[in-house]
Amino acid sequence: MTITEEIQALKKEKNAVILAHYYVEPQVQEIADYIGDSYYLSKVASETGAGTIVFCGVSFMGESAKALNPEKIVLMPDISADCPMAHMADTETIKNMREKYEDLAVVCYINSTAELKRHSDVCVTSANAVKIVKALPNKNIFFIPDRNLAHFIADQIPEKNFIYNEGYCPTHDKMQTEEMQKAKSEHPDAKVLAHPECPKTVLQLADYVGSTSGIIKYATESKDMEFIICTEEGVSYELTQRNPDKKFYFTDTLPVCPDMKLITLKKVLHVLKTKDNEVHMDSGLAQETRRPLNRMLELAK
Ligand code: 13P
Ligand code: SF4
Repeated sequence: MTITEEIQALKKEKNAVILAHYYVEPQVQEIADYIGDSYYLSKVASETGAGTIVFCGVSFMGESAKALNPEKIVLMPDISADCPMAHMADTETIKNMREKYEDLAVVCYINSTAELKRHSDVCVTSANAVKIVKALPNKNIFFIPDRNLAHFIADQIPEKNFIYNEGYCPTHDKMQTEEMQKAKSEHPDAKVLAHPECPKTVLQLADYVGSTSGIIKYATESKDMEFIICTEEGVSYELTQRNPDKKFYFTDTLPVCPDMKLITLKKVLHVLKTKDNEVHMDSGLAQETRRPLNRMLELAK
């Protein structure tokens, strides 16, 4: 049996479902039942009938799936795959902001630890953040952890007062306008599609800014044939699957998330076989993490 056949057989036997983010290796995306952005995957995790969820992504994704399904087994192929940005805020600052500002909503990007989520009023992803923040009754918004996404949203909702936090994604934040300009001069007909975790200077040069699924949808529906993609290179798998005739370029410094790349087929097989790397969360934390996640799922509808 090939490794893929073994995974398929074990999946049936254990009533398991495999979820994968667009940034993981193509071989892993190939065997997944659902591939998507953070919002889509959290929605799938909240609705699945499977008893076991294998989450091919980073730890905040597994934690969110567990909080939404405390009775289910959630397995992480590599428990050390973690999003550094998820830790770039702190609960002490949240408490201080709540004391300082009346009418404050703490809006938490889903790329955050469960501990940060439990102290927040609502979660968002880049696919739904503008819609959700607009729908909130609060004037003051403390947005954690990502400063770049916060600025991108704030620019679209001038009626709200944003308070920023200094978190960032190491993979997206290091994208440079010089490299983009170079890619643009090499491919003058290409449209630039960027993720809102990129710095503002990069976003200003983009033709479209959106989540990973937004970028894929834009490229697929566009009449244009060439695109410069400013997000993690893993999206190229789905982009080329859906658009075999179109061309996709990246900056010379290829944007790679080292944590997403820790997920391999072998590790997926291993956790299915052994149930190693199960996500555990105490029931109090799960309940308090579920609250902002469910509010997101409700407001994003
Ligand atoms: P998406 O929600 O757009 O898939 O982004 C997740 C992420 O980690 C971006 O770096
Ligand atoms: Fe986190 Fe950035 Fe990796 Fe996304 S690409 S998981 S934000 S480190």
